[in-house]
Parts: sequence; C-alpha cells; structure tokens
Amino acid sequence: MKNKINFEQTIQLNEQDLLKIIDRQKLPKHIAIIMDGNGRWALKRGLPRSVGHLAGAESLKGIVEICYELKIEVLTVYGFSTENWKRPQQEINYLMNLIIEYLNKEIGELCKKGVRVNSIGTLQELPQSVQDVIANSVERSRDNSGLVLNLALNYGGRLEITNAVRAIAEAVEVGCLKASQVDIQTITDHLYTAGLPDPDLLIRTAGEFRISNFLLWQLAYSEIWFTNVLWPDFRRQHLLSALVDYQQRERRFGGLQ
Ligand code: FPP
Repeated sequence: MKNKINFEQTIQLNEQDLLKIIDRQKLPKHIAIIMDGNGRWALKRGLPRSVGHLAGAESLKGIVEICYELKIEVLTVYGFSTENWKRPQQEINYLMNLIIEYLNKEIGELCKKGVRVNSIGTLQELPQSVQDVIANSVERSRDNSGLVLNLALNYGGRLEITNAVRAIAEAVEVGCLKASQVDIQTITDHLYTAGLPDPDLLIRTAGEFRISNFLLWQLAYSEIWFTNVLWPDFRRQHLLSALVDYQQRERRFGGLQ
C-alpha cells in the first residue's frame, strides 16, 4: 500500500475493493473487539435492549466469518464483563441465554470451518448452563487449527492480573519460585491468555474511547481503532476498513523506525 488512504476513502469502498488493498502478509495475528452499542442501536429503533444484543450476535457471526476467511489467528470478543453484573437481572439473563443459543447454534458450523472456541474470564461464576455449553464447545472444537474464537465472558482485566499475581505469590510462598525470578513472561504465563499472542489490533465500536477493563496487560502495544458504528451495524467492510487503517500504521513498540 504505497499511498495512504484515509477512513473517509475506505468507507466509499466495497468489500472487493478493500480486499484488493489489504496486504495478506501484514494482517494482525490477533484482533480484539469491544462490541459496544447494542443498547443504543435498539433504543434508536424504539426496541428493547435485548433486540440490540440479538442483532449484535448476528454481527458477530459475520465478523467471525471474515476473520476465518482472512486466516486471522485469534479473535477475542468482549461478551460479558465482570462489571456487567450491575445491569438489570432481566438483561443479564437474556445475555446468558444468548451466549448459550449462539454456541449451540454455531458450534457445528464453527467446527466445519476449523474454528477453535476458547474462553477467558472467571467462568465458574457464570450460570452452570452457560459453563456447560462453553465446556462442550471448547471440547468439540479442541483439535481445530483455524481461527481461535476467544470469548471473554465474566472477564475483567484487573481481576485477571490480580489472580495471576496471587498464583505467582503462592508459588513464591511454597518455594517453587523465587521473587527475583518473576518477570514479564511469568505474569504473561499466568494470565487467561497464556499461549496466545497479544492483540495487534483493538476495535471498539459505538464511539466510546475507553478500554473498559479489557485485556489491560495484553493491549500494551496494540493499535486501537475506534468507530462510531454501533456493533449491530458492524459489517465485514468495517473490519476491512480497520485492517486498511492498521496496515498504514507504523508500529515501533517504543523503538525507532
Ligand atoms: C455492549 O453493548 C455489549 C454487551 C455488554 C454484550 C455483547 C454481546 C453480544 C454482542 C451478543 C453476542 C455475544 C456472544 C459472546 C455470543 P451495550 O449493551 O453496552 O450497548 P450500549 O452502550 O449502547 O447500551
């Protein structure tokens, strides 16, 4: 991509044109998404928030598909945060059922495509029915070698780091590890994401400019792409626009060009 192309230009382009611009050799290995704006999407239409979440689950299907087609290694999506328990019980129940429905409906197709389902978060605090369907999807897809669909459920970055620190402190306490041996890799290895590459690209929809306790450690050097598009309106073209923008950035990781 010799000449820079700005966002206004990319949104004029259709999927085929965007695919022509994208350099397949320079795709992010790991894309993380904060799927925001379901509620506002519904509100704008005078519909209950649950309809927004349902439409959000449809958007997710399309985005999983394009990530799989592009051979992205990992897609992490923020499905339910440790703070989302503050929502009305009815909405929480709806979201839990939606996760169950999504996985039950999609797991066959995901397996056919070679997608491996993984999850991060404090799963043991989720309703048993949700835990069961996650365990079943993880098990059914465990040998797949395509895209890793990483579902962040009851996930919070601060809690994840706290748990990692606690596990490391326990290892030091019983003498398995010396405090002086604790380094960046030790912490990385104790996170839910151990073994996965850090996200290269974080996308947040719905015009919010926050990280919201998502992957606090792992996002240290991620490129961030914000859009005003509400998650239920987020389509393959939007992801491709984000990739075009990502490929025009110079990643220096604190060094020089
Ligand atoms: C944020 O929008 C979205 C969520 C808290 C839930 C995301 C869930 C989905 C996209 C459903 C499918 C997910 C899975 C894992 C199957 P919001 O409700 O905060 O929107 P608002 O800011 O407009 O109110």
